[in-house]
Amino acid sequence: MSDFKPGLEGVVAFETEIAEPDKDGGSLRYRGVDIEDLIGHVSFGNVWGLLVDGRFGPGLPPAEPFPVPVHSGDIRVDVQSAVTMLAPYWGLSQLIDIDDEQVRRDLARVSVTALSFVAQAARGLGLPAVPQKDIDKAETVVERFMRRWRGEPDPRHVQAVDAYFIAAAEHGLNASTFTTRIAASVGADVAACISAGIGTLSGPLHGGAPTRVLHMIEEVERSGDPVGYVHGVLDRGERLMGFGHRVYHAEDPRARVLRQIARDLGAPRFEVAEALERAALDGLRERKPGRVLATNVEFWSAVVLDFAEVPAHMFTPMFTCARVAGWSAHILEQKRLGRILRPRLRYVGPDARKPQEVEGWS
Ligand code: ACO
Repeated sequence: MSDFKPGLEGVVAFETEIAEPDKDGGSLRYRGVDIEDLIGHVSFGNVWGLLVDGRFGPGLPPAEPFPVPVHSGDIRVDVQSAVTMLAPYWGLSQLIDIDDEQVRRDLARVSVTALSFVAQAARGLGLPAVPQKDIDKAETVVERFMRRWRGEPDPRHVQAVDAYFIAAAEHGLNASTFTTRIAASVGADVAACISAGIGTLSGPLHGGAPTRVLHMIEEVERSGDPVGYVHGVLDRGERLMGFGHRVYHAEDPRARVLRQIARDLGAPRFEVAEALERAALDGLRERKPGRVLATNVEFWSAVVLDFAEVPAHMFTPMFTCARVAGWSAHILEQKRLGRILRPRLRYVGPDARKPQEVEGWS
């Protein structure tokens, strides 16, 4: 089969008006606007509007009450269950049965509820909920999120989380976005599409990486030996989390932006992270000559989130909050396309045979 592309690598599956990262890492643009011109100028709620509606319009509504499923001990798992439950809880219709306006409204409701759920869960079961009147003092979606979590947040932490949410909001046809588009292509409801994306995002080679990055930084902080640490990881044949990318053949522009944010905000682990980054890039150049393995978004995300006092176990749920924006935009775009996604496999299994020929038949 001449059109066989293992893992769909390099296959262009759709035309999009949302975003597609430049391979050379020059920039990342959301509907044509560079993230460097968004971060610090508008808030994440406006970026949700830009991605989904193509303009800085109404953005996200306030959150509604939401179901609280079992507490599994993993907030990423809990938010995925809560989002899934929104369909029966709110009576959401399946995509094929509703118009674009309704899909957009459902996306906004589910997105903002996912954020509220994560903030509430981050606050923990032990603390009383922040009074609604204090949450309502917030001027932006991210400030609301931080108030629901912390009560009276440090404004610099709000700034850091807003920057992170914008940088991580959208990134073309990555694995979790592809997943949401597959679910949307078959007409599943918005909550099912987003919940599918949350599951895929949890993988350590995708959205689960920054937690591991922070552990790396902490270990180097303890040992004071970034070079020894890097060689140890590579000698064991393991991967340095926060480096390498399937699309970029240069530094990820989000890493560049978040490094600058971490520097400007005076992140406490900035210096150790920079030393580890230098050692990692040298180590990777030496061990993998001919390959471009540069810093990806996860590395500096970990430093920025750490500055905002976000614990490592919250990193994947935080990524989920950011990426609901991109997923929402893609679900709507896929719905408008109205064609199911169904690639094919090349079958290389046994030739036709009888059940008697299969091992274990008796
Ligand atoms: N550390 C060490 N070696 C690496 C790394 C790394 N971070 N990344 C790639 N390599 C090596 C691989 O071992 C492989 O070497 P080999 O051919 O000698 O076996 C070679 O570079 C190519 O690696 P692939 O896995 O083929 O590259 P791919 O494009 O498939 O992977 C990925 C991209 C998954 C991001 C990879 O670079 C990786 O595992 N990085 C660490 C995890 C990480 O940071 N994930 C976050 C990604 S960003 C995001 O999802 C938002």
